[in-house]
Amino acid sequence: MGGRLAGKVALVTGAASGLGAATARAMAREGAAVMLSDRDPAGAALAQAIVDDGGQAAFRLHDVTSEEGWAETVAATQAEFGALHCLVNNAGVASAFLDLMTHSLADWRAVLSVNLDGVFLGMRHAGPAIAEAGGGSVINLSSILGKVGMAGTAAYCASKGGVALLTKSAALEWAPLGIRVNSVHPGFIETPMVANALHAAENGNEMRDQLIAAHPLGRFGVPREIADAVVFLASDESSFMTGSELVVDGGFTAQ
Ligand SMILES: NC(=O)c1ccc[n+]([C@@H]2O[C@H](COP(=O)([O-])OP(=O)(O)OC[C@H]3O[C@@H](n4cnc5c(N)ncnc54)[C@H](O)[C@@H]3O)[C@@H](O)[C@H]2O)c1
Repeated sequence: MGGRLAGKVALVTGAASGLGAATARAMAREGAAVMLSDRDPAGAALAQAIVDDGGQAAFRLHDVTSEEGWAETVAATQAEFGALHCLVNNAGVASAFLDLMTHSLADWRAVLSVNLDGVFLGMRHAGPAIAEAGGGSVINLSSILGKVGMAGTAAYCASKGGVALLTKSAALEWAPLGIRVNSVHPGFIETPMVANALHAAENGNEMRDQLIAAHPLGRFGVPREIADAVVFLASDESSFMTGSELVVDGGFTAQ
């Protein structure tokens, strides 16, 4: 199969929903063999749909906070598709509005363990496999909230800011190995994560209007707009990019 990712094998975490699902589809459409992973078994149906459309895909149940799970998932990807070239650390959780004066350590850890520990574990376990394949590309999902703060989301912002600098450190460490490492910083995108957060908020409709107004392009993004950025970073078109922050935010952080 031709395409911008022909011959590459990719692992996408959190691929059952939202940005991960759109990314897995886009990568497969560009010719990559894609291992979808998620703690939600619904990802299996998406992998099957990609195969039904003529793509190469498989699914693995995988919680990114489990080190054992990472070792098994990377090994399963190599066994299924022969190598690993691209890792998309996409799995993530939002936090409910948390006041720092009353924030519990358990709530803090619940966010950090998925959004930051999960990315560390992913690089720790996929890195050697990508090096073994002769190099490749790691793409870590940070956020605009890894660049600017927002009241009530301290744990989320800390996790995503951590992802940005973890990315840069890995980029420097792995440049000699031919492994590029970049972060993607989406603005608010129409996914279940955002819909659920707004639904849970008391003043969800009002918040939605305010958040849309904070994006100069006057709307939320759609998952394809992030998937396209990830495909670019996974492809050889971005061969001179490493340690960079690709901001896809409708102008949110330009202000
Ligand atoms: N949607 C946005 O506006 C937005 C903006 C900036 C960054 N992001 C980031 O993009 C990524 C994807 O977000 P989304 O909007 O598609 O969210 P989503 O909730 O629609 O999908 C997230 C997926 O991650 C999976 N997941 C969560 N915890 C997991 C774990 N421990 N192990 C394995 N899988 C797990 C979920 O099951 C789900 O399928 C996240 O890292 C998020 O923080 C999203």
